[in-house]
Formats: sequence, C-alpha cells, structure tokens
Amino acid sequence: MSSISLLFSPQSALLIFLLLLVYISYTIYQAFFGPLSKLPGPLIAKFTNFWRIKNAASGNAPANFQDLHRKYGTVVRTGPNHVSISDPAMIPSSFYDVFTPKNAGKSYPSIFTLQSQDAHRQLKAGIAQKYSLSSLLSLEPMVDNVTRNFMSTLHERASSGTRLDLGEWVQFYAFDVIGAITFTGTFGFIDKGCDERGILRGLDGGLIYGAVVGQVPGWHEWLMGSSFLQETVMKIPVLAAGNPVPIVVQMIKDALASNAKDGAESTREDFITFMRKQNEKDPERMSEDVMINHMFVNLLAGSDTTAISLRSIFYLLMKNPCVYAKLQAEIDAADSKGLLSPIITYSEGQEHVPYLANVIKESLRLHPAVALPLERIVPTSSPLQTQSHTIPAGAVVGINAWVVHYDKNVFGQDARVFRPERWSEENGERLKMMERSFFAFGHGSRSCVGKNISLMEMGKFVPQFLREFEISWDGDEDGWKVDNTWFAKQSGVFVRYRSRERKAVFA
Ligand code: HEM
Ligand SMILES: *[C@@H]1O[C@H](CO)[C@@H](O)[C@H](O)[C@H]1NC(C)=O
Ligand SMILES: *[C@@H]1O[C@H](CO)[C@@H](O)[C@H](O)[C@H]1NC(C)=O
Repeated sequence: MSSISLLFSPQSALLIFLLLLVYISYTIYQAFFGPLSKLPGPLIAKFTNFWRIKNAASGNAPANFQDLHRKYGTVVRTGPNHVSISDPAMIPSSFYDVFTPKNAGKSYPSIFTLQSQDAHRQLKAGIAQKYSLSSLLSLEPMVDNVTRNFMSTLHERASSGTRLDLGEWVQFYAFDVIGAITFTGTFGFIDKGCDERGILRGLDGGLIYGAVVGQVPGWHEWLMGSSFLQETVMKIPVLAAGNPVPIVVQMIKDALASNAKDGAESTREDFITFMRKQNEKDPERMSEDVMINHMFVNLLAGSDTTAISLRSIFYLLMKNPCVYAKLQAEIDAADSKGLLSPIITYSEGQEHVPYLANVIKESLRLHPAVALPLERIVPTSSPLQTQSHTIPAGAVVGINAWVVHYDKNVFGQDARVFRPERWSEENGERLKMMERSFFAFGHGSRSCVGKNISLMEMGKFVPQFLREFEISWDGDEDGWKVDNTWFAKQSGVFVRYRSRERKAVFA
C-alpha cells in the first residue's frame, strides 16, 4: 500500500476524526470550564489566539488594549491561555523567544530573549556591570562624540527655517550612539544622512514579524525559526536584502577582530572592550557567541526605543508651547550662568535643569515605546491572585503600559494631558502609586537593564539640542502617524528648525 493511500484509509480517517474530536473537546473544555473560563473578555479569545494576532497586526494595539479594559475591567482573557491585567501590582517571569535573532542556521539567544530564569541570571551576571551606574560615566564621552557629530551636521544643514524629518534624525542619533557605546563604531547614519544599507527598514520588518508571530510563539519554529525557511528566504535576493541580521553580525565580527588587535592595554570603555577582557579571563563563559548576543540585544532593545522616546519628547514639547517655553527658559538660565559645558554632561542636566527629568518621564508615560503587553508566565510556585480571580501556573499574563499609563485612578482625571508638573506636585502614597505604575521600562527582574543608559542619553541630548536649535511643527495638521508593531513607532515628525544664537558665556 502506498503512503498516500494509507493516508486515506478508513483507519487513518478514524484516527484523524478522533484526534480532531479530542482537540475540539479540549478547546471547549478550556473555553468554558478551564481555569481561565471565568474571566471576562472577547468571546473568540476563549477558543483561539485570533484576537491577539488580529490586534498585533492591526497597528492599533494601544487603543485596542485601552478599549478592552474599559469594556471588560482589570483582568481580561485575551486568548485560550492569555490574560491581560491593568493593575500593575502583580508580576512574575518572561520569554520573548521569537525575538532571538538567527543567522546562517545559528540563533542568538540573549538576556532579552531567554525564558529560563536561571539561564537569564547566569548570562546577565557576565555583563550587568557594564549597564551599572558606575559605568555610565565611562560611556558618556562616546555619547558626546556622536552628539558633537549630530549638532555640527545639523548646523551645517540649517539655513533659516530648514525643513527636517526630526523623527528620522533622532533615529540616526540613537543608532549611532548604540553603535558607539557597544562596538566602538557608529553605523554612520549621521554622516550619511540616510539609511543607505536598509538596516532600519529591515529591522522594521523584523518587528512586524516579531509582534504578530510573538502572539503564537509556537509557530516561530515553522516560520523564520526554521533553518530551511531561513535559508530559502536568504536565497531570494529581494528578501535577503531586507534582512539586517547578516550586516549587523558582520559589523560585530569586524569590530571584534579590530578590537583584538588593540590588545590588553586598550583603555576603551565600550561594551566590546569590556567583553573582550572578560573573554581573555574566561573564554568559556564569555565566548564569541555570547559577545555577539550581548551586542545584538543592545541594538535591538536600545536604539528604536530611545529614538521613539526622543520623538515623543520633541513632539510633545512642540504641541505644548508652555512646557516648551518653560524648559527652554530653564536651559537658557543655566547656560547664561555658565553652568553647562559645551557638551552638556548628564549631571549638569540633572542638577541645573530640574524640569527636564519630569518632561522626559511624562513623555514616556504618554507614549511608552512598547505597544504590546509585557508578558510573563505565571510560575508554578505562586499562582496569581487578583481581587476577583485566581490565575493558575502556566497562564501567560501581560500588562500593557498603554493601559496603566492612562489609568485615571492613578494619574487623575487629566491622565490624557501632557503635564510634567504632576511628577513634582504629587507626593506620598499618590506619587508612589504613579511610580509603581510607570511601565515604560517594564518591571521586576526582567525590566530594562539599559534604563539608566537611555536616561543619560536623553538627559544630555534634549537640553543640548534645545540650546542649539529652535524647532516648530511642520508636519500634518493632525499630528504624527503612529504604526504599532512591537514598538509604537511614529513617523511624519517634520519640523522647521534654525540654529539659535547661543546665550552661553564662556569665561
Ligand atoms: C527609552 C529607551 C528604552 C525603553 C523605553 C526601553 C524599554 C524596555 C522594556 C519595556 C523592556 C522589557 C521590560 C519587561 O519585559 O519588563 C526592556 C528590556 C531591555 N532593554 Fe530596554 N529600553 C530602552 C533603552 C534601552 C537601552 C539604551 C538599552 C541598552 C543599552 C536597553 C537594553 C535592554 C535589555 C538588554 C533588555 C532585556 C533585559 C532583560 O531581560 O534582562 N534598553 N527595555
Ligand atoms: C571620539 O572621536 C574621535 C575622532 O573620531 C576619536 O579619536 C576618539 O577616540 C573618540 N572618543 C571616544 C571616547 O570614543
Ligand atoms: C539606575 O540608577 C538608579 C539610581 O539612580 C539605581 O537605583 C538603579 O538600580 C539603576 N538601574 C539600573 C537598571 O541599572
């Protein structure tokens, strides 16, 4: 009997029928009697992940999640095994496996993508020091280099009232900074003034894939997670050209090779030098693959996020002239007293422009970079107890920053308003609740390790830029456009800008 006819034999038809019956019964059981069955939510979510996939593909995740919680309350079932929560009081462990970059049949799991808590702890221990507060000072000069390049390039391009895609330029800045602090070289975005090699476009494609397939991670191994499909795609020139992973892996390998030549005396303080020194001490723990993983994660997690946040800051300033004027006045006052260096240091900004931190925080509240919920698997050790429900081990629970950041119980009736003052006016329990609900960098052991690096970057760049340039909105009347994939990425942030006369007094 040939295998084809075996497939259509009565026996196998019966088997398929039985399997289908088991599957359907199980789905119905999960939907109506399983541990999540009592949770409110869209009907379809009881049976399939359709709601989640549709949501991720819609480009509208923030609003969808806000509507979802308005309609169904604080604990909502979004899929057969998925729950979304709008109360930040509860958080356990993580995955994100789909975001593991793959190249030439090799995958690069990183501290961002590893699901196992133990593996995560081990991998992170080798690099955590480089993200720490004490390391910030050593990274600053590399950031300054990029800042200097950015400012002089824009001054050259500025004649009175030049139109600029500021949103694109802050992205060039954020990527060049990550390149500089991570693997010594910049991407050269600022020098070229464009995305010559299609790296940014390619990453966008990856983010759409990650957002949608991330809703059903099990599919990944059959899609781009399969070496067969990977290799096939890489054989098709148009598609291969859209994949930035090989370009970036090559950049990292070149940087490693050139860094090795510097030898042990290198005084550089970037991530790559730090790792190479670790590698000399313990080549097994800090292998070449581990180094590549760490560098990749900085690129994936640290550049678009920072660019999105910078866009939000400048956009919200332009849309709120009183806030813009107040911040500008503080910067100019500090500058005219000679308190700000030619390249403003992080500590000068913190000390002499106190309003700045609130402006940054409020911008990240109104426009958190991640558009989808930050998800955790409920651990076996402690089922999750909400006020009304018990969520069992194994369920995937997510919190979407876009929901908690707009919660009127936490931020008040004016939660939708851009008002940096709220962070200094409130105090006591209320402020604590606001801080606890601030989710732009996530929460707990898997929250953003790069938080202080990005606060340093933004805390320097924003006052530097505003001291040197004046901007006004020159985009669509309706404002920017936001495309939500994994990130809430804006476009159309056009400005008119001109160089300001520096009011600084340098003795
Ligand atoms: C404004 C800029 C940034 C935002 C809004 C941001 C946001 C986030 C968020 C939401 C997470 C996941 C948290 C969670 O699941 O709870 C995360 C993780 C991470 N971020 Fe950031 N990030 C930013 C900048 C950076 C920078 C500059 C770097 C690196 C230099 C970085 C490196 C990382 C890494 C390595 C992780 C994974 C941490 C882990 O799982 O242990 N991020 N970030
Ligand atoms: C800054 O850039 C200059 C010129 O490209 C380079 O020589 C110097 O080493 C850089 N400094 C840092 C701290 O990266
Ligand atoms: C960032 O700095 C603060 C102190 O300003 C520190 O408490 C915190 O642990 C640091 N966070 C990270 C992720 O390094």
